Amino acid sequence: MKVVLVNGSPNANGCTFTGLSIIKEQLAENGVDSVIFQVGKNPVIGCVSCRSCKQPGKTGKCAFDNDMVNTVGDALREADGIILGSPVHYASASGAATSFFDRLFYSLEPAAKRLKFGACIASCRRAGSVTTFDQLNKYFTISQMPVVSSCYWNTIHGFTPEDVYADEEGVRTMKILANNMAYLIKCKCQSNIEPPQEPPAVMTNFVR
Ligand SMILES: Cc1cc2nc3c(=O)[nH]c(=O)nc-3n(C[C@H](O)[C@H](O)[C@H](O)COP(=O)(O)O)c2cc1C
Repeated sequence: MKVVLVNGSPNANGCTFTGLSIIKEQLAENGVDSVIFQVGKNPVIGCVSCRSCKQPGKTGKCAFDNDMVNTVGDALREADGIILGSPVHYASASGAATSFFDRLFYSLEPAAKRLKFGACIASCRRAGSVTTFDQLNKYFTISQMPVVSSCYWNTIHGFTPEDVYADEEGVRTMKILANNMAYLIKCKCQSNIEPPQEPPAVMTNFVR
């Protein structure tokens, strides 16, 4: 049982990382392995819609291989769930996180995502966390990924890691999220129910 965590902040040890670390520790308490990937401080290119990832032989790989997108994709193929983290930048996910997650979710083949559990956390000093939370959950709900919830929207507040630990309600929200993710993964692993069949694929582009 494994969960992939992605820190979409340029700050490798900042507030988003602290929230993800609390989750990582709580997953471990539940016997679930996890790994945190860092988007990092280098500029992250956005999706340029080249659709290279959809071409035969390249399925599931982004054409840009100079960051962690394909590495995280490989990790998700082997994992049971993923938790996306982003700081709030102007009431949205950071530009780097958005670029990274766009390319990750667009390039990955559906089977790498389908019916794996997803959750996100947003870290802010003051406001914009809920819009960021809504934004990040969209990656899951277009990918047939059940969204794991907690006792509040998954937000933590602060400018420093110390602030995050002082946000006791936020810390509790992170821990409950980890407990719920671990529980659901265990339920799925122990289930012998076959996943549902999908109707044939169709794309209607509203051209009539
Ligand atoms: C460019 C930029 C924009 C920001 N915009 C907001 C904002 O809209 N709302 C807010 O509460 N904090 C905002 N912040 C503060 C960060 O979201 C907050 O300190 C966050 O916890 C930092 O997480 P990190 O340490 O993981 O980077 C902004 C920070 C930066 C650098």
